[in-house]
Amino acid sequence: MLLNVRDLVIDYKTPRGNVRAVDGVSFDVPAGAVVGVVGESGCGKTTAVRGITRVMPGAARFAGGAIEFEGRDIVTMSEREMRKLMWREIAYVPQSAMNALDPVWRVGKQIEEVLRDRGGMGKRDARARAAELFSMVGLDAQRLTDYPHQFSGGMRQRASIALALALSPKLVIADEPVTALDVVIQRQVLDTFAELQAALNLSVILVTHDISVVAYVCDYVVVMYAGRVAEAGPVAEVLANPAHPYTMGLYNAFPELSGDDRELSPIEGSPPDLLDPPAGCRFRPRCPFAQERCAQEPPDVAVGDGHRALCHRADEAAALRDVAKKVDTWTGVSAA
Ligand SMILES: Nc1ncnc2c1ncn2[C@@H]1O[C@H](COP(=O)(O)OP(=O)(O)O)[C@@H](O)[C@H]1O
Ligand code: SF4
Ligand SMILES: [Mg+2]
Repeated sequence: MLLNVRDLVIDYKTPRGNVRAVDGVSFDVPAGAVVGVVGESGCGKTTAVRGITRVMPGAARFAGGAIEFEGRDIVTMSEREMRKLMWREIAYVPQSAMNALDPVWRVGKQIEEVLRDRGGMGKRDARARAAELFSMVGLDAQRLTDYPHQFSGGMRQRASIALALALSPKLVIADEPVTALDVVIQRQVLDTFAELQAALNLSVILVTHDISVVAYVCDYVVVMYAGRVAEAGPVAEVLANPAHPYTMGLYNAFPELSGDDRELSPIEGSPPDLLDPPAGCRFRPRCPFAQERCAQEPPDVAVGDGHRALCHRADEAAALRDVAKKVDTWTGVSAA
């Protein structure tokens, strides 16, 4: 296993109190696999993956757990070891491509800077490698002298992937890499990303709020809700047989990237404020299948090979799935 995240807890100290944005999250990233981390905005996805890079906002604190990369714990690693790991072993593509690229520098210069500063390359080699990286991600090397604002959204996203791949890392963490793009461009960027992943045998953690992106490119999925893992497992298995009502709801809420004519139904309401999350199952206020026992902490149930769900009713999932497919199952739930 390339990466093991174990019982990870990350808090934000805020003036209003402690926000436990990541609350006991565990998942694995096998070598050469694409792991999707999916959930609505505010569920702790970015906090969890930024923990892996240790580049976190000042208010964030590790409050428990471990992140083992090839057996070494990132949480307790020295700054020096961490500096060796980032870019060379683990690269991070932040949530907006504009965050990855500095607007005042030519794109090619930024890539060369990483190659020279972090990779110890000379000027000439860095320039050649930057051109090679551009062509790998489907950009014309002549555009290396452009500034980020001269690029379209899709091109900027490609450039930020080129930047991440600069020093041939083993693990690439991409946070919402296609979110701001229209569907056609999303597919093109994801196709390029998938080709590179396979060709380079990269391990990838892909963060997205869109479960159709997971279906399109991921091997494994980690569904996060309110700071916890609601469901996790191999993508084919989880999407064919979702065992957590939140996963069932997410699937109903998004059109497939391939385009289909399913009737969509949003999950009413929004994830809880993590300053004061509901007791018991955190999805309970929005769950059409909630029962009295759901006010108690739900068990983490193994429902298949490497497939688990945090739900009192996981053993009834097959029956719940049939009901979840009906659009009116999801209407009037939050109000009820
Ligand atoms: N810098 C921060 N300071 C305080 N709270 C934060 C900060 N960043 C995120 N949070 C809180 O942590 C929770 C999870 O946020 P985030 O990890 O960004 O979720 P996601 O990526 O799934 O949208 C949210 O409730 C958010 O309000
Ligand atoms: S534990 Fe209860 S409320 Fe939570 S997802 Fe399962 S059925 Fe719904
Ligand atoms: Mg995020």
